[in-house]
Amino acid sequence: MDKFPRVMDLLPRAKRRLPHFSSEYLFSGTGYDLAINNNKNILKNIFLTPRYLKGSVQPNLKTKILNCEFNVPFGIAPVGLTSLIWPGAEKYLSKMSVKNKIPYCLSTVACASIEEVSKFLNGQGWFQLYPPENKEIRNDLLKRAIKSGYKVLVVTADIPASSRRERLRLAGVSVPPKNNLRTFFHAAICPSWSIGTLINGIPAFGTMDQYSDGNWHGTEKTKAGFAGSQMKRFLDWDYLKEVKDIWKGPVVLKGLMHKEDAILASKIVDCVYLSNHGGRQLDMAPSPLQTLPEIRNSLGPDYPIIIDSGFYSGQDMCKALMLGANFVMTGRPFFIGMGALGEEGAQHIHDILKDEIFNVMEQICVKDIGELQKQKLSLPENFVLREMNYN
Ligand SMILES: Cc1cc2nc3c(=O)[nH]c(=O)nc-3n(C[C@H](O)[C@H](O)[C@H](O)COP(=O)(O)O)c2cc1C
Repeated sequence: MDKFPRVMDLLPRAKRRLPHFSSEYLFSGTGYDLAINNNKNILKNIFLTPRYLKGSVQPNLKTKILNCEFNVPFGIAPVGLTSLIWPGAEKYLSKMSVKNKIPYCLSTVACASIEEVSKFLNGQGWFQLYPPENKEIRNDLLKRAIKSGYKVLVVTADIPASSRRERLRLAGVSVPPKNNLRTFFHAAICPSWSIGTLINGIPAFGTMDQYSDGNWHGTEKTKAGFAGSQMKRFLDWDYLKEVKDIWKGPVVLKGLMHKEDAILASKIVDCVYLSNHGGRQLDMAPSPLQTLPEIRNSLGPDYPIIIDSGFYSGQDMCKALMLGANFVMTGRPFFIGMGALGEEGAQHIHDILKDEIFNVMEQICVKDIGELQKQKLSLPENFVLREMNYN
């Protein structure tokens, strides 16, 4: 803690130890990086005037959502090509999530498969679905996740198309990286990553690859390789209802930011998950934090709301909780931790975030997350976005 007391203290070390292609894949936004920068900047001018004289308070961080109780109000967002960023990351994150009782959401396009990761999850895992247009593949994915004991399904809505990711193009980075001299060079100068990859195996699409080879019993197959894994996606409200009928447990819809979408979603799914995909999809998108207060007002006090995109400290997370979220997910910080410190890094990030939330709660004398959520923040003007009426 003394050497790396904040998430961002680990960033320089992580950047040194990650090959260029992994680092650019992890840290890039899209377009002009406006959304990714706004996610961070919008958090800066939010203040809380503390109240005191409440005696001594021992904060309790336990949080209930979707019929589960977690030790803290945060979890690990789904991240694709996980082991390309840090070899073995799915295993490290799932083990850490069980040890600390936080949710880990496995991506459809992670490198380790649904089945492999489930061995470490103790029936506590969340599975994220990129909705394939091919319903045969969709149903098979859901069947596999149910059979492997995943509890919560997270359906991602905010990828109607791949984004341009200009930074990756400029850096000549292809994802997954091509086996050429340049890739080899970038890997060779990062020995911890390279040795990890030799032990863990070359990153592949553990869950999706089977739909593109001859072993799958289904009639339709995706194209082989990366293009196949980024299969044609499709989502509308009817499709979502079908998914909800197949999945018997809680279903979460991820990637919404518009109030009307949230209202429609709340009639079908058990929870909405506000996100701009960490600024990786639509560069003119607001931070989901800016739409959160309005969505909370529309959905009422009891409907569960999860949020992510740019919450890299316990303070940031407290702000989201005070503005109406029930739970905060985070993506890049856990990879910064693993990039810097390997397996231990994931635990270290957890410990930092937990300690920071605990400290905020001590500082403002609140005893539990419910009381934290009732605190009233001061927001900058125009923080909450409203659609203009031009006519
Ligand atoms: C490298 C990377 C890969 C991602 N892959 C997925 C994915 O496979 N599925 C998904 O729903 N979201 C994916 N996301 C979005 C995350 O789930 C999450 O919304 C985002 O990381 C939150 O922003 P943060 O990184 O600022 O916390 C990805 C994000 C990153 C950075």
